[in-house]
Amino acid sequence: MDKPNTEEEWDIWCKEWDRVGHQEKLRIAKFYEISYDSARHWRSDSGVPIRKQERGDAPVEFPRANVPMLLKTATGISTAAIIGDTHNPYQDTEVVKTVEDFLEQLQPEYLIYNGDINDFYQVSVFSKDPARLGKLQSDIDISTAMFKRHSMTMPNTKKIFVEGTHENRWFKYLQDKAPAVSKLRSTNITELYKLDEFDIDYVPFERGVLVNGTFLILHGDIVSAHSSYTARRHYEKHGGSGICNHTHRLGSYYKRDRFGIWGWWENGCLCSLNPDWIQNPDWQQGFSLVHFKDNGRYWVEQLPVLDGRFIYGGDIYGGN
Ligand SMILES: [Fe+2]
Ligand SMILES: [Fe+2]
Repeated sequence: MDKPNTEEEWDIWCKEWDRVGHQEKLRIAKFYEISYDSARHWRSDSGVPIRKQERGDAPVEFPRANVPMLLKTATGISTAAIIGDTHNPYQDTEVVKTVEDFLEQLQPEYLIYNGDINDFYQVSVFSKDPARLGKLQSDIDISTAMFKRHSMTMPNTKKIFVEGTHENRWFKYLQDKAPAVSKLRSTNITELYKLDEFDIDYVPFERGVLVNGTFLILHGDIVSAHSSYTARRHYEKHGGSGICNHTHRLGSYYKRDRFGIWGWWENGCLCSLNPDWIQNPDWQQGFSLVHFKDNGRYWVEQLPVLDGRFIYGGDIYGGN
């Protein structure tokens, strides 16, 4: 079946896509002889506004199969800013502001939130401060306020949220402690973070985003003792090339074999380096810009944030 062509055809196609549930979406994708993720991209790239009142009638379901979201960048070079591990409300507010000002200036084609945006402290299995237990909503509000800022300052940037271990902490808490409410639409991360309202695509835990078939972006769920060790373990676990968050460390690992040169990167964090629940952690703040050429080539620029400052293109951001 041919791809919709005219504005009217797209309107009809999107209306049907928004109306139906997941199983029916799979059938639509099969009918058009494309993958489910490609169909989702048809929807997000169509330019047809989401009709919230109709979408509200559809059950919210996410495939649990562990396959990445496939992202194909436009012809030429596209830049993705990859940030993560803000751990709101433990974010480093000054550093986040500095990074946001830089990104507003840069206007990247893509902004990837690579997990652990909120801490979900209240549902941690660790000992908790009772004074914090009632603050889950206000903690989440910090994240939605950030998404809102980005939707205003980078309106043309395609945004993708990749679930992290701390968002998955919420999912596991619901599933284990409150299964009866765990499937309510209002309890899932998409709704809590208002991802649809800010036009942010959602990628479930550890599925990742595979860009141009050569570069995997995922939060990660392993941590090694030293910087770059986890990057190497990601190479051993997944092969190929990519970037992870989760370790709160910066690092890189390169490997050349008969087939080419591969690399994995650890993407640092944007949270406070001195949160009240851990003593002097071996963490580094930072984020990355990855420049993708549509033929599969990519270049990773890591931007370490040292004492609240980073340098890019000869300019220092966050002070002198
Ligand atoms: Fe984290
Ligand atoms: Fe994590």
